[in-house]
Amino acid sequence: MTEREPVETPFPEPVFDDPPVVDPYRLPEGVRPVRYDLHLEPDLAEATFTGSCATSLVLDDDAATITCNALELVIDEAWVETSDGTRLAPTAVTMDVDTERVSFGFDEPVPAGDVTFHTRFRGQLNDKLRGFYRSTFTDADGAEQTIATTQFEATDARRAFPCWDEPAHKAVFSITLVVDADLFAVSNAAQVSRTPVEGDQGRHEVRFADTMVMSTYLVAFVVGPLEATDPVDVDGTPLRIVYPRGKGHLTSYALEVGAFCLRHFTDYYGIAYPGDKLDLVAVPDFAFGAMENLGCVTFREVLLLVDPGEVTQAELLNVTDVINHELAHMWFGDLVTMKWWNGIWLNEAFATFMEMHATDAFRPEWERWVTFGLARSAAFDTDSLSSTRPIEYPVVSPADAEGMFDILTYEKGAAVVRMLEQYLGADAFRSGIRLYLQQHSYATTETTDLWDALEEATGEPVRRIMDSWIFQGGYPLITVDLLDDGGTLRLSQHRFGYAGDLGEGDPQPLPADDDATRWSVPLIFTQKSTQDGVVTFEKVLLEGDSIDIELVEPVEWILVNTEGTGFYRVRYAPDLLGALVAHAPTDLSPIERYGLVDDAWASVLAAETTAADFLHLAESFATETDLSVWQRLVGCLHALDRLVDEPEDRLAFQERVRALVGPALERLGPEPGQDEPDRTRALRGVLFEAMGTIGAHDQTVLDARVLVAHPDTADPAMAAAAVNVVAAHGDDADFELFLERFRGASSPQEELRYLYALADFDDPDVVRRLLAMTLDEVRTQNAPLLLRRALTNRHHGALAWFFVAEEWTTINDRLPSNSIARMLEGIRSLSGPEMAPAVFAFFEDHTVPQGDKILAQHLERLEVNVALRDREAAAFAGSLR
Ligand code: BES
Ligand code: ZN
Repeated sequence: MTEREPVETPFPEPVFDDPPVVDPYRLPEGVRPVRYDLHLEPDLAEATFTGSCATSLVLDDDAATITCNALELVIDEAWVETSDGTRLAPTAVTMDVDTERVSFGFDEPVPAGDVTFHTRFRGQLNDKLRGFYRSTFTDADGAEQTIATTQFEATDARRAFPCWDEPAHKAVFSITLVVDADLFAVSNAAQVSRTPVEGDQGRHEVRFADTMVMSTYLVAFVVGPLEATDPVDVDGTPLRIVYPRGKGHLTSYALEVGAFCLRHFTDYYGIAYPGDKLDLVAVPDFAFGAMENLGCVTFREVLLLVDPGEVTQAELLNVTDVINHELAHMWFGDLVTMKWWNGIWLNEAFATFMEMHATDAFRPEWERWVTFGLARSAAFDTDSLSSTRPIEYPVVSPADAEGMFDILTYEKGAAVVRMLEQYLGADAFRSGIRLYLQQHSYATTETTDLWDALEEATGEPVRRIMDSWIFQGGYPLITVDLLDDGGTLRLSQHRFGYAGDLGEGDPQPLPADDDATRWSVPLIFTQKSTQDGVVTFEKVLLEGDSIDIELVEPVEWILVNTEGTGFYRVRYAPDLLGALVAHAPTDLSPIERYGLVDDAWASVLAAETTAADFLHLAESFATETDLSVWQRLVGCLHALDRLVDEPEDRLAFQERVRALVGPALERLGPEPGQDEPDRTRALRGVLFEAMGTIGAHDQTVLDARVLVAHPDTADPAMAAAAVNVVAAHGDDADFELFLERFRGASSPQEELRYLYALADFDDPDVVRRLLAMTLDEVRTQNAPLLLRRALTNRHHGALAWFFVAEEWTTINDRLPSNSIARMLEGIRSLSGPEMAPAVFAFFEDHTVPQGDKILAQHLERLEVNVALRDREAAAFAGSLR
């Protein structure tokens, strides 16, 4: 590759609206915890716990008040022991629920220096999946069992013990649990002893080793009727899977991935794993997907416990990714931690990047970076809205921190990290990462510390490039033109945005043409010479409005965004696009073909291309063979399907879908051949499902019924696809069958396949039954995802919406706080003329404080869909006749 000199155009320092003047949530400076001796006794039957904690503090000055975080705790006693053994008791204890803090006032100031701060406290094991909470499951004998477990990120350690609950307050944790003799207990560090409690043979005291210095949000303990696999020795680190009793047969895959991944990261980072052991723990009720507690990583069951022979490639990929993601955090996040929550994007973006890196090494044939195209599309989708946000954003309250965990943090963040890695070169990038981790081990950082290390390792203007991506929302559209009879390539940038249809007072659509935002764009492009047919690559950094590049030879085609590693879209001059589409099947890689489809669909949403033209383009992909490209095509066909309402138009559209998808499915045949690649198997499932759902193909529906009747003999990809096909055409009897399969499932994946498919039924009574189930039978961790899918039901999304609106208070009380905004993603599809206004009206006086930006994005995205419908529905239907 050749490189061009970057142009010096520094980006302005980020400016944010309304910077907070006083931050009521931050703890006062000058009091630093260095060690917690934490003692907890959960009572699983009563759903309560008692505890005591001795925190070693360093006081910079004498202090009349000591303030720390505590919430939903009763503090029975507190005192300070000074270094000379004097005991000081506070005379005033004030709980401030709003700021989640407790202050202890002393008549006689606590002297500066080392002191020990003692508390005795009590709390409830709640059912809100945060703090110290309870999770339940029914065992093989039908008995209800309870687990006490923790989830502390971002700011919920304070619900389990009084603490300095900010990531920069790293300390050593020495944890002791007192538990019923028949229960298993696990925490961050290795168990050092387990002894019967004197005078109470029914209870055991379990002591754990000291942890390394780490942030409170990484503390974890889990107690319950659990079992563990025998440890696997991974170069000195004992690795186990911990699971609810009876599920041991689903653990071997996680052990395999975990062991691979530990070695992979130890090697990549060049630093030993920082814990003394590693347990991966499956928890039946879990608000998130998984959590990177040092040495005690917790997971939803479906993301850890799996029988690899029984599941789809997508389900197995999820397990692999999630394990890799959390283990990536053991170094990046746990060993080196962000100072404050504004830096969470880097934590999560980097782990998402590394997760794919590790998965790619574990199963190269899964083409992880091609699959990433789909997640990147989802990030583009939100980032094409005027309500998007910069990746890095000020965080003041716990609700702000909660709102940071979104698609922009994870997927856009990972995409810009990947763009940087590819621009710098993988080895140079890794050197910078190693340097950063070495420099900041056991400490905390700002984002710029990473840029500094990468600059030091590579000599490239990393900070300038990255500031333009993380402090500005949105992303560029690169326009590609040939000038001077093909002798000059011009690449220009401006901000990309969707077209909205916005009434007064609504957010404005992006003024794409006069938006002055510019990025420092690391561009990689490919050209094929007409003379010798040789393909060459070039890298340039585009920093101003445009750049002109002299071409040495005439070109057959030019592709911008080689291997799809850049976070931008491309719009080609018509001739260039024509040449590219014509050569796509032979000359472009799968992710590059993917980019053509994805950019074309975005251009429909931006009102630059018609839906009819898009369908023509899609039809030129009839010979496509790649899984991800097909997944994107099928996603677009689903979106087109929503534009078509009249029965005869629907028939015509379904015919077009069958004509496109059917031959591709036939080429693969009905069953996998021997040694067929996993992605091909998965593709068969995707095409089969598309034929049976959007294509409404009768024979496919019949075939699906046979597969559902005999699920054990089917290839898992086909079995899973068949479940969705039958759901789309299902009746009462199918619903009963699915319910039975959900209830009696023998694996978490099977359980969820049947549960979520219930949301697709085309039968209002069935949908009503399902909605009611989300308030009792369905676990609160799954209900939001089920409701989200019900909101996108092609024919009965409205029913789901009215249910959500009516049950708003119950839903908000019952479901995990972090899940509400995610659940509402489903409203994006309610673009029907009678629905959208009801949705907008509802949110005029209902809020989601812990996800206000995410909600604003869903609403704007809904407006984009309304505008698309207004603009395209009639014309598209006309084009089908
Ligand atoms: N640290 C997060 C979990 C988390 C997210 C805790 C938000 C508190 C607030 C963890 O590393 C994570 O990213 N989990 C993901 C799964 C992952 C594979 C993308 C999740 O839970 O969705
Ligand atoms: Zn993460």
